[in-house]
Amino acid sequence: MKTLVLHYSLDGNTRLVAEAIAKAAGADTLELKLAKAMPSSVPMRIVKGGYQVVSKQCPALQPLDRKPGDYDMLFIGSPVWAGCYAPALRSFFARTPLAGRKTALFLCHGGGKGDAFGKLRAALAGNEIVAEIDFVSPLKKNPEAAVERAGQWAGETMAALAGGA
Ligand SMILES: Cc1cc2nc3c(=O)[nH]c(=O)nc-3n(C[C@H](O)[C@H](O)[C@H](O)COP(=O)(O)O)c2cc1C
Repeated sequence: MKTLVLHYSLDGNTRLVAEAIAKAAGADTLELKLAKAMPSSVPMRIVKGGYQVVSKQCPALQPLDRKPGDYDMLFIGSPVWAGCYAPALRSFFARTPLAGRKTALFLCHGGGKGDAFGKLRAALAGNEIVAEIDFVSPLKKNPEAAVERAGQWAGETMAALAGGA
């Protein structure tokens, strides 16, 4: 099954998890990159990022170096911003509608994921969500444990799909 790990990451947490998933699943990766970088100051990031979420903005992305439509199975990952997935994902969904794919969702957050999974599921209506997992501040807490957990989850998810689940 041709598999892609698609994600956005501002500070590396979601990237850490994405790379572990890709390794365990034998998948390609595609990291979404904003055309215009976020501010470097943390308070400015919170203000700008939070505003982008509540106003449902779709910030411009850099060109994608893979075609998600070429893949049967997508792991889709994001940090939680203001109880939602990050705006880069909203930009991606607006320009690359996905349908009829199997998807597994992963989130990184600081302890308050809100209904981010529900919002991601709604954005992916028309696709089959086969698994979900979230991580709390993996880089700060215990990167090795997060890598192991992510790899195990990805392996189990792929095994379930291969078994016809
Ligand atoms: C704009 C912004 C909004 C955030 N909102 C939340 C939130 O609502 N709940 C939460 O638990 N963490 C929130 N965070 C923290 C991130 O979700 C968390 O640090 C995550 O691990 C970052 O992933 P990354 O390193 O891949 O960017 C927010 C961070 C930013 C920059």
